[in-house]
Parts: sequence; structure tokens; C-alpha cells
Amino acid sequence: MTEHMRGGARLRGVSKTYGEGGAAVRALREVDLDISAGEFVAILGPSGSGKTTLLNIIGGIESADRGAIVVAGQDISRGEQQRVSIARALATDPDLLLADEPAGALDVATGRRVLELLQQTSRATGCGVIMVTHNEATAEVADHVVRMRDGAIVSTDRNTSPADAATIHW
Ligand SMILES: Nc1ncnc2c1ncn2[C@@H]1O[C@H](COP(=O)(O)OP(=O)(O)O)[C@@H](O)[C@H]1O
Ligand SMILES: [Mg+2]
Repeated sequence: MTEHMRGGARLRGVSKTYGEGGAAVRALREVDLDISAGEFVAILGPSGSGKTTLLNIIGGIESADRGAIVVAGQDISRGEQQRVSIARALATDPDLLLADEPAGALDVATGRRVLELLQQTSRATGCGVIMVTHNEATAEVADHVVRMRDGAIVSTDRNTSPADAATIHW
């Protein structure tokens, strides 16, 4: 860790349900997650597994129904604090970049360049990256791969030697 390493996130028991009654969808089920400052994390899982919901909650775009969320040292679990935290984050260098399927709608060459940009930015500035993806190949660039299924984290693995974004293909 260097002094340039910033950000990080800690989630405990984070749950989110959309809708009510028979139409209720449990998008997140008691999610616990620790992300160290400066890491490049890929959240990998099939469509509908809760990846975007998790990213939006970490980013303060959506609120959780239950649980504790600390992002870059800020407790964003409750209401007004969330807005203040986001405004502050946007006004300064970000500690954490959040990217939802950044290569998802792109051809391979362009997608690879976007991943290179994320990887280079993270390496050069020490900011963390959380990238949501359903593509196994793109997750190879990450330091950690968090796998989700049906609203829950099913595994967290360290990539011992993350791939250079320039070398991956899918
Ligand atoms: N605004 C919403 N209203 C109702 N259901 C939603 C909403 N957003 C997501 N969902 C549902 O929550 C579940 C998780 O969705 P999402 O987080 O978008 O998954 P992913 O990003 O992994 O595809 C899915 O079943 C999805 O249909
Ligand atoms: Mg999504």
C-alpha cells in the first residue's frame, strides 16, 4: 500500500428488495463485501444477479433497505449524508471509479481500450475500480473477482497475476 492508495468499501448485511408482495424481487440478500483501497475489483455474474444494484448502492445512487455501507471512509447507509458524500466525491479526485459493464456494448477492440484506461488510471493514481461485468474474460484484468448469483456473493477470488487489459480477448 502506498499513500496514493485511496478509497475502499465495507458492506455488511446489505439487502434490497424491489416491489412488494407477490411482485417483490430480492435483488440483494445480506451482502457482505470488503474492498481494499486501490484495488481493481470485478463483480461478475449472470444477468439479474444483482450486480448493478450492488454498484448503485456503493455509488449512493440507490439506497439499501438494510445493512451498513462505508465507502471511502464515509458512512452512506442513511439519506442526507449520502448526498453530501456524493457531492464531495465528485468535487475532488475520485477515490473509487464505478463502472457498470464498461465494455458491454462495445466491439472487442474498443472494449479492450476502455479496460486499459480503467486499469492505467487505477495503476497511475491509486484509485480503486469496481467494475461490473457478465464477461469472464474482462474480469481477468481485476485484482479481485467477486462472483454473484441470485442476489448473493458466492465467491471472492484473488487474481494472483491480473492480465494486462491490452492482452485479453473475448
Ligand atoms: N428498478 C427495479 N425495479 C424492479 N426490479 C428491479 C429493478 N432493478 C433491478 N430489478 C431486479 O432486481 C434483480 C437484480 O437486478 P440487477 O441488479 O440489475 O442485476 P444485474 O445487474 O446483475 O443484471 C433482477 O431480478 C432485476 O429484474
Ligand atoms: Mg446490470
